Amino acid sequence: MKIVITKSKQEASLYVAEKLMNVLASKEHPTLGLATGGTPKGVYAELINAYTKNETSFHHAVTFNLDEYLGLDLNNKQGYAYYMQENLFKYVNFNPDNIHIPNGKASNPEKECQRYHELIKAHNDIDIQLLGIGTNGHIGFNEPSDQFYLATHITTLDEQTRKSNARYFDSLEAVPKRAITMGVGEIMDSREVVLLALGEAKQDIMEKLLNSKTVDPKLPASVLHLHRNLTVVMDEAAAKKYNKKVRT
Ligand code: F6R
Repeated sequence: MKIVITKSKQEASLYVAEKLMNVLASKEHPTLGLATGGTPKGVYAELINAYTKNETSFHHAVTFNLDEYLGLDLNNKQGYAYYMQENLFKYVNFNPDNIHIPNGKASNPEKECQRYHELIKAHNDIDIQLLGIGTNGHIGFNEPSDQFYLATHITTLDEQTRKSNARYFDSLEAVPKRAITMGVGEIMDSREVVLLALGEAKQDIMEKLLNSKTVDPKLPASVLHLHRNLTVVMDEAAAKKYNKKVRT
């Protein structure tokens, strides 16, 4: 595991955007694993900025998003399909046919999970997976549990997750209770993983994760300790407690 601590959120976002751009430049059909939420917004802003300066292109890339709420369709403003359009896709030159996000409105969600899993496999897995982390240690929507689920599956959201995501909805009640998420198997099969954590709200979970001595599905992100090509990128605020711990 490589750990990078930056002075600011912007520096961290630029570092991660450059990693994605390196992969974009290195392959004929790179597959990008993308995340939503507050954390990657700065990364997407840097990618848009680079694209407008002709420093990168997405025409040849394939994307797989980590997750989508069950019951929200493509046009729902709280959905992740909408988020991706608004924060990245509409500003750059992806081929719309190469953009993949689980369909939260699928009539048969189990089948949708299977379809998504097979699609990732048919693309020979993901070249670089971008991850945020929940304050409970979730990655994608792989919530604390007694076991790791390997493939894309339907997950019940943790109350902590629903509470922290309620800021994007009108009320806590409006936050869906279930989602489709990539599994830890698909995440671990990615050739490169970048975990980005920003801000003080992530200092406790990052301290817990980076000092964890075991791989435990109750701390889902702990599985990343087993990945051979993982970079953890934090701004100083997210790294505050971790730093303190290693100094003493
Ligand atoms: C989003 C996702 C989640 C978020 C996590 C952190 O696609 O998979 O795991 O990365 O909930 O969310 P933010 O960045 O809003 O703190």
